[in-house]
Amino acid sequence: MKTLQLTDNQQDISTAAAVIKDGGLVAMPTETVYGLAANALNGDAVQRIFAAKGRPMDNPLIVHIADVADIDRLSLVAAFPEKARLLAAAFWPGPLTIIMKKGAVIPDEVSAGLDTVAIRLPSHPAARALIRESGLPLAAPSANTSGKPSPTTAQHVIDDMDGKIEAVIDGGACDVGVESTVITVVSDIPKILRPGIVTCEEIEAVIGKVEVDKAVLNQLKKDEKVSSPGMKYKHYAPKAQVILVRSTDEKYIGFVNRCYRRDGDCAALCYDEDVKSIAAPTVSLGAEADLKEQAQALFDALRAVDEIDGVNTVYAHCPIAEGVGMALYNRLIRAAAFRVITIPDKRIIGLSGQTGAGKSEVAAILRELGAGVVSADVAARKAVEEPDIKAALCAAFGDVLNPDRSLNRARVARIAFGSRKNLQRLNDITHPRIIEIMLEMAAECEGELVVFDAPQLFEAKADVFCEKIISVLSDREKRLERLVRRDNLRREEVELRMSAQYDEQFFIAHSDCIIDNNGTVGELREQVRGIYGRLTDGAT
Ligand code: TXA
Ligand code: MG
Repeated sequence: MKTLQLTDNQQDISTAAAVIKDGGLVAMPTETVYGLAANALNGDAVQRIFAAKGRPMDNPLIVHIADVADIDRLSLVAAFPEKARLLAAAFWPGPLTIIMKKGAVIPDEVSAGLDTVAIRLPSHPAARALIRESGLPLAAPSANTSGKPSPTTAQHVIDDMDGKIEAVIDGGACDVGVESTVITVVSDIPKILRPGIVTCEEIEAVIGKVEVDKAVLNQLKKDEKVSSPGMKYKHYAPKAQVILVRSTDEKYIGFVNRCYRRDGDCAALCYDEDVKSIAAPTVSLGAEADLKEQAQALFDALRAVDEIDGVNTVYAHCPIAEGVGMALYNRLIRAAAFRVITIPDKRIIGLSGQTGAGKSEVAAILRELGAGVVSADVAARKAVEEPDIKAALCAAFGDVLNPDRSLNRARVARIAFGSRKNLQRLNDITHPRIIEIMLEMAAECEGELVVFDAPQLFEAKADVFCEKIISVLSDREKRLERLVRRDNLRREEVELRMSAQYDEQFFIAHSDCIIDNNGTVGELREQVRGIYGRLTDGAT
């Protein structure tokens, strides 16, 4: 099929209206995003929308009208409650969708079998002209391939829909940029099912108390019921993995730069103010304080990151989920498949080194001197008792639980050290969660300076959280002796473990500061004291 590219002049609107009346599909601009419209009263036409988008059939569509009077005139709803009338008067035409009990004329394809229908009166002149010219209510979801970012330009629509629909009307870039706020007035207390630029506060000023559905900001468990089917699907995702980073501006910039220096395959989805300080490729959403500008830019930005060569991970500067920020957060968290990294406002110092070199002694001295110390071993022990991690370990290595359902750690260790591949699998399962726990523990520390005591700092990729890294080194023979004594191991066992670790050169190359632990306890203490002094003076 050839997709007609139309303008918003009167003649083209007539052409598009004829397509709609004929049961065809037209992508139309609205003030929020482009919609993929069909006659809402024609079930077969509506079905074609689902096919073109690859949309799951259980996800209902919004019915677009051009005049409030159409609701009663066409009996679109079973009842038009007072609160809905107040909302319509306050926010229509505009980016608000109201869910009510559906009228009998609404085909099941539109409501996806629910007994409710979503209605919106858009403000965009081309959308209203198309509705009026066709004389029909229009069912229209966002005009993207299901799962991708919603389209905010005609080009985005063409990228996704060319050859699959009859026509697209080019009305320029959408003003709002994120989809309408969706509210249901069917529940006792009206509930926001999707945030948009019409905010909770603005709505409450008109109809009093509203609730925000849990799924707006949180990931639902597999068996939890959704109020709005659209919320359970992966959405807005570029090809690269998006990760939200919740932190101060300064910590965000430092983190992204260290990730970029280490891996070279990431980009930043950030604010104008960040751009000059970030070494990685950036896509800016706009000024940090201008949430409406960010909303307008969001979907184009999510598409734009895929245009940058060699990007596997996108670190997005996390918005505060309030006001218009709630709409941004809701989209970004879905684009990120709910992956969020929260970096506490602390100065994190990494402490690493080969086993037996004396890392624990150094950690103890730093603690005495006043630093907070977060132990990776403690975090690891917590992580492996969590149900999700235990389940993943059982899936990878078979039944590794004790009769009381706790983890059989000795068994896991035996399997993991049995081969490089198994060790890698163990690390892939546990490291991300261990890091999360370490960041949470760091947030709980009292002082500003927190030491990450982590033998596998680099392997776990926890180094990117550290503003400085200290490594403790000592001669091979000394380490061997200590380990044989401390862990009651045979020399060969110790040698095997040591061979799995990075060599001294690696630690020297990747650390800001080396502690040489070949001398006396007093000498060690002196070195640590000196480093701590420099750290706390801010000059290192
Ligand atoms: O701004 C917008 O709302 C755009 C433009 C084109 O109007 N449309 C849009 O439609 O975003 P769509 O289909 O991409 O998103 C509609 C959302 C989905 O999450 C869907 O599950 C929900 O609204 N929805 C629709 N009808 C519903 C109903 N009866 N009950 C609960 N949720 C409903
Ligand atoms: Mg959509």
